Amino acid sequence: MSNVTNQNGTGLEQQFDDVNLTEIMRSNITHARYDKPTPVQKYAIPIVLGRRDVMACAQTGSGKTAAFLVPILNQMYEAGPVKQPFIRRKQYPLGLVLAPTRELATQIFDEARKFAYRSRVRPCVVYGGSPILDQFRELERGCHLLVATPGRLVDMLNRGRVALDHCRHLVLDEADRMLDMGFEPQIRKIVECNTMPKTGERQTLMFSATFPKQIQVLAQDFLYNYVFLAVGRVGSTSENITQKVVWVEEQDKRSFLLDLLNASNLLQRSPEDDQLTLVFVETKKGADQLEEFLDADGYPVTSIHGDRTQREREEALRRFRTGQTPILVATAVAARGLDIPHVRHVINFDLPSDVEEYVHRIGRTGRMGNLGVATSFFNDSNRGLARDLVELLVEAKQDVPNWLTSAAVDGRSGGGGRRAGGGSRSGGGRFGSGSGFGARDFRTQPRQAQRSAGPSTIGGGFGYGGGSYGGNYGSSYSGGGGGNSGGPDWWGES
Ligand SMILES: Nc1ncnc2c1ncn2[C@@H]1O[C@H](COP(=O)(O)OP(=O)(O)OP(=O)(O)O)[C@@H](O)[C@H]1O
Ligand SMILES: [Mg+2]
Repeated sequence: MSNVTNQNGTGLEQQFDDVNLTEIMRSNITHARYDKPTPVQKYAIPIVLGRRDVMACAQTGSGKTAAFLVPILNQMYEAGPVKQPFIRRKQYPLGLVLAPTRELATQIFDEARKFAYRSRVRPCVVYGGSPILDQFRELERGCHLLVATPGRLVDMLNRGRVALDHCRHLVLDEADRMLDMGFEPQIRKIVECNTMPKTGERQTLMFSATFPKQIQVLAQDFLYNYVFLAVGRVGSTSENITQKVVWVEEQDKRSFLLDLLNASNLLQRSPEDDQLTLVFVETKKGADQLEEFLDADGYPVTSIHGDRTQREREEALRRFRTGQTPILVATAVAARGLDIPHVRHVINFDLPSDVEEYVHRIGRTGRMGNLGVATSFFNDSNRGLARDLVELLVEAKQDVPNWLTSAAVDGRSGGGGRRAGGGSRSGGGRFGSGSGFGARDFRTQPRQAQRSAGPSTIGGGFGYGGGSYGGNYGSSYSGGGGGNSGGPDWWGES
């Protein structure tokens, strides 16, 4: 891992070896070629191993996935098999990870498989848009860690294929998205109306790169005596991303985009080049139109959005990842969590209406110490974002155009921002016979579960739950306006 931009990267564990991990987990970490924990891993892993609930906020691309997968799977290896009722065709996962999109669920599942390699823990994934019968079959082979999108999981629960009675670990990845108005009812249905162990009896973890205050308040319903962990400032962007905001009138956007793409020489690229460009638009129709336009001009382009079939979505992502089609036009469906190496340029052809969405979109580049560029087309219709955007750019030490500062000062934010004005952001089948999960090929050492101990604040960005927020979280979020306009592509993802 190369340089990770982070303010609070010192203290606590410097090596994975410094925490009490099972042999099998150590070995899988080595296989994954993770030499050192990233800052969020360094803080979160011991806390999760100590069985505390956690609400964690760390920048995009900083390794949050392993920060929850490693300690959860490790706890499963240590606990070994749990006696469960045998009900044909029904699975009782021990852990559940919920994610907002199908592609992200798949990605988390792939990561889980890496860390569950050679163990008896079997991860599974369920998400909408794919044949449910295939997913039933996979589940029937055993499911200890289930990764799911909410809609499909509710379906599975209703059909009696999954029961959450034994679910001891619940993760909401992209937690602020999962708890905003699009998904909250489904999440409540899963967490509160089912047989899932209650708050306090299960371990609940929430991760995101952004955490608006109103969502933090809501999140407390699902957490018990939790640790709030903020690595860096809540909602900040990586300094590895060079952010540019340019004024482009609506009618000039296409020609401006062509100039940018031509500057990256995409037409002449060889397949070995690994410069991928991700172009975000607000609507599904806009995505289709822009893809058609670029395609007609001979650019190697594909698109991903909620009106494409799951097969088309996966194919688009595969072609983009492999560099076969180095330009991807996407809606918000690709904004969160996707980890695609070699994305060098994110272009906001249309800017989103809230700054959190902006943070996640540009976070598809500049991951894990790599450098990236984000270019955003701004015009009159984006004034509502100006103030938040300026704060973010200043904080990330980026150039702020004078006209943007004026737009922010103008105060013509029209309520589009999510924060109150002027505030600073600182603020196995069954388990087999008794031989523990740890070891098909390895012998696990039973260890004492580490009880969480530790100071209530570390590095100013880290506090113990129930309102004891660390110094990196200010009180500058407004309570209202939590909606996400213009991006209906999010709602109803199953
Ligand atoms: N300790 C580590 N050493 C090396 N690489 C790592 C380490 N931890 C994670 N990675 C890699 O870093 C990349 C980013 O990780 P991940 O997707 O978990 O980030 P994230 O914080 O969840 O980002 P986002 O906010 O966009 O979801 C992945 O390719 C992952 O495999
Ligand atoms: Mg992530």
